[in-house]
Amino acid sequence: MTNAFVVAVDGPSGSGKSSTARGVADRLGFAYLDTGAMYRAVTWAVLRRGIDTADAGAVAGVMDQIEITSGTDPLAPTIAADGVDVSVEIRGDEVTAHVSPVAVVPEVRAALVARQREIIAAAAGGIVVEGRDIGSTVAPDAPVKIYLVADPEARAARRAAEVGATDTASTAASLARRDHIDSSRATSPLVKSDGAVEIDSTYLTLEEVVATIVAIVEERR
Ligand code: DC
Repeated sequence: MTNAFVVAVDGPSGSGKSSTARGVADRLGFAYLDTGAMYRAVTWAVLRRGIDTADAGAVAGVMDQIEITSGTDPLAPTIAADGVDVSVEIRGDEVTAHVSPVAVVPEVRAALVARQREIIAAAAGGIVVEGRDIGSTVAPDAPVKIYLVADPEARAARRAAEVGATDTASTAASLARRDHIDSSRATSPLVKSDGAVEIDSTYLTLEEVVATIVAIVEERR
């Protein structure tokens, strides 16, 4: 499929995936792809069309009209939907509240997985790809697969700090709700894939997690 060296980084929200994946890509001179941003960008485009995100048929019906563009520089990743830069909007409450039901729609997953494979195939050298189903579905042959986890309290505290929320309890409840939907969906649920190395980031610094993964890549390269 590709000559690029693929590092798959999967795990639940708040496990430190984004900072870790970007840090690893930066250290290795690899490209970086945030697949969660792609699901969020589709959600933004669906909401913009006034479509009810609970109506899977309606969401599936507009998928072929939605163009998602991802920039893969780990120091300045970009994301656009319908030609509009949505990097700020996709982190807002509205998109966050609606992304899980959109991400369960099989037509959405099929279109985005195909797009992700094209981006991986076009990457020269190497690429770090972060998501939920990278090691299991998008790039099952990736030579390095990481499954990043952290205690729920640590994940909620990080996510709350990221979005500037003071109410960690409601952030924890919203994470738990999304975890449940992400793990129980029929198509490509969040799972630790075969051959993945599990890293618990609860008591590690970002630099320690990045160094661990860089060492695994260097050993297998
Ligand atoms: O990582 P994130 O919070 O930005 O992901 C947003 C949502 O997209 C999350 O609810 C799970 C979903 N997602 C997915 O289903 N598959 C992926 N490869 C990445 C994200």
